Amino acid sequence: MSPTPSSFPRLILAPMEGVLDAIMRDQLTAIGGYERCVTEFVRVSQTLLPRRVFHRYAPELKHGGVTPSGVPVFVQLLGSDPALMAANAARAATLGAPGIDLNFGCPAKTVNRSQGGAALLRTPLLIRSICQAVREHVPNTVPVTAKIRLGYDTEDQFEEILDALAQVELSELTIHARTRRQGYRPPAHWHQLSKATQKMPYPVIANGELWSPSDVTRCAAISGCDTFMLARGALCRPDLAAAIQGHHRGIAPPAFAWQQTQELLIQFLERNQQTYDERYAVNPVKQWLMYLRTYYPQAGALFNEVKRINDPTQMAQALMAPSRSEAA
Ligand SMILES: Cc1cc2nc3c(=O)[nH]c(=O)nc-3n(C[C@H](O)[C@H](O)[C@H](O)COP(=O)(O)O)c2cc1C
Repeated sequence: MSPTPSSFPRLILAPMEGVLDAIMRDQLTAIGGYERCVTEFVRVSQTLLPRRVFHRYAPELKHGGVTPSGVPVFVQLLGSDPALMAANAARAATLGAPGIDLNFGCPAKTVNRSQGGAALLRTPLLIRSICQAVREHVPNTVPVTAKIRLGYDTEDQFEEILDALAQVELSELTIHARTRRQGYRPPAHWHQLSKATQKMPYPVIANGELWSPSDVTRCAAISGCDTFMLARGALCRPDLAAAIQGHHRGIAPPAFAWQQTQELLIQFLERNQQTYDERYAVNPVKQWLMYLRTYYPQAGALFNEVKRINDPTQMAQALMAPSRSEAA
């Protein structure tokens, strides 16, 4: 049965390391449809991190913890030491984080080797200890959420992980509906999420393979979730959240034309030039084009043209070329 409260669907912009930084969060949340964002993971390994690290991952902390369009940005932490995670979460909260998210899903080998991210899925009791310690050290007014996968190699421990997490007073739990071994390969196993929606004492957020409004409708029906986290789909189609919201209200706005997306790319390049060293301003544009090309054929053609450009001025000229809007 599909949930249909008036707020349905709630949409969260996913954390994506190396991709979804404050510039991208600003651009995507300005288009609309999102209730909140989550930062790229902040690695907690041995120390209480200084303020500048939190500000680097979440510059929004200097402006009330929200994007310029007012969408709250939760700070995501990744680590395996309960006391250290708690101390860093408390610091993030003191710096104004509107919420703390805990990463138990990262599949990167370097992270997993030091018992971080998805590696923790093999030790549900340690996940519980980390969540409990963080919850106890962060003021009650600041929500604490967690993000998991279905398991490490298999789904065998999924219910055990849920049972452990059900004992902690989290605000919400995001589940990427794949194991670590399944990586990012389709399909996402949305049916597994229904176990969580039935069992957990707090809301479950569905994540994985949500590329279109109809994916959200199907995922809601299969999982029982009314909240969804958009990751790669949000980059492939910048207006995805607005399109999903419109679809469910019967007022679907016209899809973003390629020309509108091209304008976003030009702004994106300018913002990257202003924020980072000139040398690093061009690669994020190429990276975004790689995502965009799955939705816009024009982005694929443009990527082939610009892939060897390293100079921001040349990149700007290529992005502004008028022929682009007529192509494909
Ligand atoms: C390049 C990349 C970076 C990611 N970085 C993070 C991260 O920092 N924290 C996290 O919890 N998940 C991270 N993820 C996982 C996504 O948030 C999401 O769970 C996953 O992509 C599945 O959703 P999708 O199928 O809609 O893309 C990352 C995924 C990708 C592709």
